[in-house]
Amino acid sequence: MIKQTSVFVRLGEQSYEIEIGIGNLASIGSPIQKLNPSKLFLIYDENVVMHFQVVQELLCEIISEVHSHKVASGEASKCIGVANELWDFLSRHQADRNSMVVAIGGGVVGDLAGFVAATYARGVPFFQIPTTLLSHVDSSVGGKTGVNLPSAKNMVGAFWQPAGVLIDTQTLSTLEDREYVSGLAEVIKYGLIMDEPFFEKLEANVAGLKHRDADLLVDVIAHCCRLKANVVEEDEKETLGRRAILNYGHTFAHAFESVLGYGTYLHGEAVAVGMLCAGSLAKKMGRVNQAFCDRQEELVRKVGLPVKVDRTDIQPLIDVMKRDKKNVSNRIRFILPTGIGSVELVDAPIKKELIESVFNEFFE
Ligand code: GLY
Repeated sequence: MIKQTSVFVRLGEQSYEIEIGIGNLASIGSPIQKLNPSKLFLIYDENVVMHFQVVQELLCEIISEVHSHKVASGEASKCIGVANELWDFLSRHQADRNSMVVAIGGGVVGDLAGFVAATYARGVPFFQIPTTLLSHVDSSVGGKTGVNLPSAKNMVGAFWQPAGVLIDTQTLSTLEDREYVSGLAEVIKYGLIMDEPFFEKLEANVAGLKHRDADLLVDVIAHCCRLKANVVEEDEKETLGRRAILNYGHTFAHAFESVLGYGTYLHGEAVAVGMLCAGSLAKKMGRVNQAFCDRQEELVRKVGLPVKVDRTDIQPLIDVMKRDKKNVSNRIRFILPTGIGSVELVDAPIKKELIESVFNEFFE
């Protein structure tokens, strides 16, 4: 029997279902038909033409008007210029609120297409077919959409929940190894921030994770989506401090990405080192012990993620951290661990020298 499961994200009228399976892309017609759009606008990453063609063929059988637009791969596409092209694409084909935008690709296309759907005609429905591990476990849940500014990642955006999500783990079989492993950083993050038994399961299944064991992946992805959905259901718009825990490691990671150049390190790679930095900062502040840091680093290393980044000037990194959206009153706010499976939002002042010493520890 084909393994298939689903996660329901409970957000009142914005509730939606995430379907997760092996080879379930073939049944994409069913959730789309239930949502009953009048026209479809497929926005896809140039790297997933094969999946796009499958989706297009199936959807053309059930919806009379299907338009498509390709987006260049990479973080550089997540910008206002490409969003503008997509608004124009929708406008040329007279999209309206009965239309539906369908994103096929990783986090870049999901965030970009979601933002375009959120803003065009003050909002048109949006369906996601994420094709990378990172987007399976992160951007498919919770409705964060947006584009980057040259000076700050994800700075212009909107919360816009998808009408539905379909995850086919077979899309991972064509993913480059570096890209796949990068997604494992977000998987590990869920164990670290809120679920010690899940972290233990990951420790016990490193080989299966590395070999992309299909059954294991359906379970792991569904579990991550459920954990993230629990957080988002409590704090959809990140106003209560709860949702901010999902940014564990991200304050450091965004600084690495921004200063070292988006794309030098993949997002998950930057998050991996960012989590180690957050762990080290927590240890220096007496919040966790060395054993915590060692255990975290061991799993990160074993799955093949980096544990250091290239040396660079520290001040520009701190400048980026100061612009983080989590900050209040110019103070850098960190998500810091208190143990495996538990983190806290910390906004007490932290000495610059302490942060500098953390950076120095994680430079090659
Ligand atoms: N990626 C963090 C969040 O969705 O809140």
